[in-house]
Amino acid sequence: MDAGTPQNRDTWGSKTAFILAAAGSAIGLGNIWGFPTQAGLNGGAAFLVIYLIAVAIIGAPVMLGELMIGRHTQRNPVGAFKQLAPGAPWWLIGAMGVLAGVIILSFYSVLAGWTMAYIVRAATGAFTAGVDTAAMFNDIAARPLPAISWHLGFIILTVFVVIGGVRDGIERWTKVLMPVLLVLLVLLAVRAVTLPGAGTGLAFYLKPDFSVVDWRVVIAAVGQAFFSLSLGMGAIITYGSYLSKKDELVSSAAWVTGLDTSIAFLAGLIIFPTMFATGFDASVQGPSMVFVILPSLLSTMPPEPYGGLIFGTGFFILLGIAALTSSISLLEVGVTWAVDEKKWPRKKAAMLLGAIAFVLGIPSALANGAVDWLTNVPGVGMDFLSLLFTIFGSFALIVGAFFISIFVGWKWGVKAGGDEVRATDGRFRLEGIWTVLIRFVCPAALLIILVQTLLDTF
Ligand code: TRP
Repeated sequence: MDAGTPQNRDTWGSKTAFILAAAGSAIGLGNIWGFPTQAGLNGGAAFLVIYLIAVAIIGAPVMLGELMIGRHTQRNPVGAFKQLAPGAPWWLIGAMGVLAGVIILSFYSVLAGWTMAYIVRAATGAFTAGVDTAAMFNDIAARPLPAISWHLGFIILTVFVVIGGVRDGIERWTKVLMPVLLVLLVLLAVRAVTLPGAGTGLAFYLKPDFSVVDWRVVIAAVGQAFFSLSLGMGAIITYGSYLSKKDELVSSAAWVTGLDTSIAFLAGLIIFPTMFATGFDASVQGPSMVFVILPSLLSTMPPEPYGGLIFGTGFFILLGIAALTSSISLLEVGVTWAVDEKKWPRKKAAMLLGAIAFVLGIPSALANGAVDWLTNVPGVGMDFLSLLFTIFGSFALIVGAFFISIFVGWKWGVKAGGDEVRATDGRFRLEGIWTVLIRFVCPAALLIILVQTLLDTF
C-alpha cells in the first residue's frame, strides 16, 4: 500500500480485504487487555452495558463518518480536512490524530512487547499448573532491560511491516489468523466458564449493578469504545482512504464494529470467571491484570501437561499478531501523512516515527515496577502507562470524535456524507437514524462527557 497522490494511490483488493484490515486495526490489545481491565476497574456488568450502548449510538456513527471522509477525499487525515474545509483550522483534528497515533503506539508497543515475551515463556513450558503468574509477569515487566528490549523488538516489527507495504501483508495474514483467534477465544471462554467457582465472575460480568455507575464509569466506557474501534484520531479515515469507490460503506462499518465488539465481549467472558475462580480478587488491577490472569487460565488447559504449552503458545502468538495489525494502523496514520503532505519517502517516515515512538515509550516500559515514581506517578494515583492511556488513548479520542461528528454533521454535511454512501451502496437505508446520531446525539453526548471529564479532573 503506497500512498501517492489521490490519482495514483493504491486501494484495498476488495471489500473483504478492507474489512479484514480495518478489523485488524480495531481488534487488538484494546479488546483482550483494555476492555477487561476497564470493565474490572469500573464495575463489571454495568460497564459492559454502558459500553455496548456507547458502541451503538456513538461508535458506529463516527466509524461511518470517518469512512465517508476517508473514502471521499482519499487522503490522510490532515489532507482530508484541508481538502474539505480549505483555509479553516479543521486540519488540526488530523494533526492531533497523527500525534495521538505516535503516543498511543509508544505504550501499545510496551504491552505488545510483554505479549512477545509470553510467547517465549509459554513455548518453553512455563505455563504449568500452580505457576506463580504474578512473579512471571514481574520478571518480564519490572526489570528494565527485558521491558525495554521487548518494546524495541515490537517497534522494529511494526516499522518493518509498514515499510514493506501494509496491504499484502495484512490481507494475507488476517484472513487466516483472525478466524483462528476467534475459535481459540471461544475455547478459552468455554474453559473459563466451566471452572469451579466461575459463577461469581459471571455474575460480576453479566449482572449489572447500576448503583456503581458514576461519570467516571461512563467516561471510561466511551473512551474504551473509541480506543477499541480505532476511532477519533483518523486511523479509519486513513484506512478508508484506501477503500475503492466500488465497495459498500455501511456494511463494512457494521462488520468492523460487530467483530470488534464480539471479541471484547468474549475477552471479558474469559477473564472474569477465571479471575474469581482462581482467587485473584479485584485488587489485581492496572495494566498487569490480564497478563497475570490469562497465563493462569492457559495453565489449566488440557491435556496435562502439554495444554499450557500448546494453548499458551498459540494464544500469545495470535495475540501478538492481533497487536501487530493494530500497531501498524497507529503508525500508518503518521506515515501516510508524512508521505502525502511532506513528500517523505515511506521508509524514512516509518523509521523516524517508529524511533520517536520507541523513545517516548521508554517511561511506559519502566512504569510497571522498574522505576517507582513511574509505577506510581506522584499526585496522579496511577502508573505512567495508564496515565498516557487515559490522556491519549481515551480523552484525546473523545475530543477527536467530538470534532469529527461536528464536522460531518454540520460543516462538511450529512448530505455529502450520504452521497458518498449512495455512490456505492445504492441506497442508504439507515440515513435517518445516522443523521440524528451524528448531528445531535454524538456531539451532545461527547460534549457532556468532555465537560464532565474536566470537572472530575480539576
Ligand atoms: N483498536 C486497537 C486495539 O483495540 C488499537 C488501535 C489501533 C487504536 N489503531 C488505533 C486505538 C487508533 C485508537 C486509535 O487494540
